Amino acid sequence: MQVGQIERRKFDTLVIGAGGGGLRASMQLAQADADVAVVSKVFPTRSHTVAAQGGINAALANVMPDNWHWHMYDTIKGSDYLGDQDAIEYMCRAASRLVIELEHAGVPFSRLDDGSIYQRPFGGQSQNFGGEQAARTCAAADRTGHAILHALYQQNIRAKTHFFDEYFALDLIKGEDDQVLGAVVLSIATGEPLIIEAKTTLLATGGAGQIFRTNTNAMINTGDGLAMALRADIPLQDMEFFQFHPTGIAGKGMLISEGVRGEGGYLLNADGERFMERYAPNAKDLASRDVVSRSIAIEIREGRGCGPNRDHVLLKVDHLGADVIKKRLPGIRDIAMTFTHIDPIEAPIPVYPTAHYTMGGIPTNRFGQVVAPMRHGAEEATPGLYAVGECACVSVHGANRLGGNSLLDIVVFGRAAGNHIIEFLGSNRYHQSLPKRSVDQALARLARWERKGSGDGESVTELRATLQQTMEEYCGVFRTDDVLQQGVEKVLEIEQRLEDVTIHDHSRIFNTARIEAMELENLIDNALATVVSAHARQESRSAHSRVDFPERDDEHWLKHSLYYKEGQRLDYKPVRMKPLSVESFPPKPRVY
Ligand code: FUM
Repeated sequence: MQVGQIERRKFDTLVIGAGGGGLRASMQLAQADADVAVVSKVFPTRSHTVAAQGGINAALANVMPDNWHWHMYDTIKGSDYLGDQDAIEYMCRAASRLVIELEHAGVPFSRLDDGSIYQRPFGGQSQNFGGEQAARTCAAADRTGHAILHALYQQNIRAKTHFFDEYFALDLIKGEDDQVLGAVVLSIATGEPLIIEAKTTLLATGGAGQIFRTNTNAMINTGDGLAMALRADIPLQDMEFFQFHPTGIAGKGMLISEGVRGEGGYLLNADGERFMERYAPNAKDLASRDVVSRSIAIEIREGRGCGPNRDHVLLKVDHLGADVIKKRLPGIRDIAMTFTHIDPIEAPIPVYPTAHYTMGGIPTNRFGQVVAPMRHGAEEATPGLYAVGECACVSVHGANRLGGNSLLDIVVFGRAAGNHIIEFLGSNRYHQSLPKRSVDQALARLARWERKGSGDGESVTELRATLQQTMEEYCGVFRTDDVLQQGVEKVLEIEQRLEDVTIHDHSRIFNTARIEAMELENLIDNALATVVSAHARQESRSAHSRVDFPERDDEHWLKHSLYYKEGQRLDYKPVRMKPLSVESFPPKPRVY
């Protein structure tokens, strides 16, 4: 297809991804009368934010004393000191205001008797800098993400955001001096490409949880924005830090919210022992996620797992009583009954750690601008390009994210990016013309998959399953040099096999076979970034647990990794230890 034949649209801003981060930014922009387009590969309210369960953190102090400074401390400690303290301060300070704003936008939060927003205890959160357990997580029962996503979507409709539903983003369009000028997208329904020119482009495409076999993520979480960034010569930061949530349904992976333990549920091994008391004497079942996930894995490895294969532990909830379970955890009860045929009102839920959250991502500053060392060495913002949410690394989560901080991250930095874009648009009033070859890369990608015929080669589905199995085996909770090295080689081999893959089902409507192939291409790039970065980091820090380097090593490794696609090259940059207005929290041993 000739470039001249392709339809073109122009907007002030293009937002790719319609989860909470994208929709919070687009709402900000549309309300300021910017001409904003949101491209989403699924209908917006099916974006993965809809699956967030337990809540959103803000030191509202509705249940017990609290303040944002304690929240900031917990987030830094949770991150194992790898989080950037300026961004963390910014997020924790903004939290209360933005939660109240969500309430006013229509989010139906659960209520306390006095009518204020209900807050539940969540892991790794304390009062008074490491003291008693805090109750900071604002919840709409156990469907908080669903409530937030629907409210944001409705506000966008009201503000006249333009939606391109079921469009798949192929690649960014780059102009002179690496300025990003929009993207080429593909209509999933018609198979026709579309060029969207924009003065600014915001990536809000979510994480890459589908690189692992057992995960809590939607099928759509294929790291599309992260791979687009890599193809645009932008590195990915801290990809070795992938969060395993302690309580996925055993063998299947669906999320059983930390809210269950927040409400008083606890874990048991085969001896009926509440084993978290041994691993985290103070916080117990509400220690940070990496601690609880590793503890479960150790219990099983040492033979104290439950069931005929001794391959899971039990999450006991029935003692909370039917009323609490029905009121506070209705979604969990539903999920448990659907996927395990167990009613948690009567019996415990079998659980095992499951891949949950991409802590690394596209490096940004706290205004959502994509910031990376450029070819000439200096670190600077990529003009016109922004990223927020799980695809970005701002970095507020460091080596381990606290539960309830992801919904907060998306609203805080979605708003911040929206505001920065409004400012940018004020002084950049005109579209730049597209250089001649600027859409070539995207079109070549499309053409490559159009040429693949139906033959006898390996199918996309089979190769995707092999990738997921490989990542689970070679880049899981516990890691060693030898196993990670094999992991790198196996993922590189899978990348080669992608060349010969066959798209079997041309007959299927809506071009989904071709989309799935391009999603797999994206997943492979994400998996390589993850396993290569993990192999290089010779220390243990929260989610990255190296059996051969069991200690955290601040002297050599208190730094962010940057992974480049070309040559699978790694570089490093310092952690920003200086907050905006308060004293810094220097690294210290992390115990719960
Ligand atoms: O357990 C949960 O409800 C998950 C929350 C989160 O990842 O923030």
